[in-house]
Amino acid sequence: MKPIRKVVIPVAGWGTRSLPATKNVPKEMLPVFNKPVIQHVVEEARAAGITDVVFVTNRDKSVIEDYFDHNLQLEGILERAGKYELLHTIQRVAEEVNVIAVRQKEQKGLGHAVLCARQIIGDDPFAIMVGDDLIFSGVPGIRQLADVALAENKSVVGVMEVPEENVSRYGIVDGEETAPGVYKVRGLVEKPKKEDAPSRLAIVGRYVLTADIFDYLEKTAPGVGGEIQLTDAMAAMCQDQGMMAVKIAGKRFDAGNWPEFLSANIYFGLQDESVRYQLIDELKQFLQLN
Ligand code: G1P
Repeated sequence: MKPIRKVVIPVAGWGTRSLPATKNVPKEMLPVFNKPVIQHVVEEARAAGITDVVFVTNRDKSVIEDYFDHNLQLEGILERAGKYELLHTIQRVAEEVNVIAVRQKEQKGLGHAVLCARQIIGDDPFAIMVGDDLIFSGVPGIRQLADVALAENKSVVGVMEVPEENVSRYGIVDGEETAPGVYKVRGLVEKPKKEDAPSRLAIVGRYVLTADIFDYLEKTAPGVGGEIQLTDAMAAMCQDQGMMAVKIAGKRFDAGNWPEFLSANIYFGLQDESVRYQLIDELKQFLQLN
């Protein structure tokens, strides 16, 4: 398999879980510490050698593309003020990746969003990263998948173990462990009932797939929630050509879930020397600890 250079990041969702914060601001632009959620995701991709980011977007999301472009007026102001560190920080964001945007004109699910990127991806294997899932680890989450995809020459899906009561929120993988944390996938099912779930291995929004997935997506009928499900297309592809799953090592936050979003902010704040100690003091006061 060729190295992965392109990622599809679907960003056309309404962010209803995060209202009212997301009434006028895309959920991808909410900050986790000092960067928007989407920048954390793009940095994970960049750290895995991905150079081209395809945002599947809608008419209200152009601020995301703009964020990864130069803001010449602001750069000029910072330069004239001699604020070079800030200047370089915002210039780096614009230089990090090539941005390509494609519109998802109807909200027909994750599988449909990925299909919108078909013409741009072409024939090479590619990554998909769901922007709500923030993953922090030494080896970037998507790289953990790409390494196995290259070694096994197969599509790979990222998973994490979740409690039994949460399986119905995720795509669930039925697999046989072939090496620690690496599974040969037997099947996949989108949002099963607890009693029907084949395991507790939940898909966490990281995928490395061959371009064959597009043919399967074209043929996929609406599934759970009346949406075209990526999981259903993968299940069909898996029957024909096999697929692997990798248990992603690292910390995952669901940015659309308030407790996890807030935890992610604290997690990052604690890693920054300039805010760490004050943050600890404040938290101790809130929690009435000594
Ligand atoms: C999507 C996928 C699901 C996956 C999840 C991970 O669901 O359909 O298989 O487990 O992302 O975040 P959504 O959260 O969009 O309902």
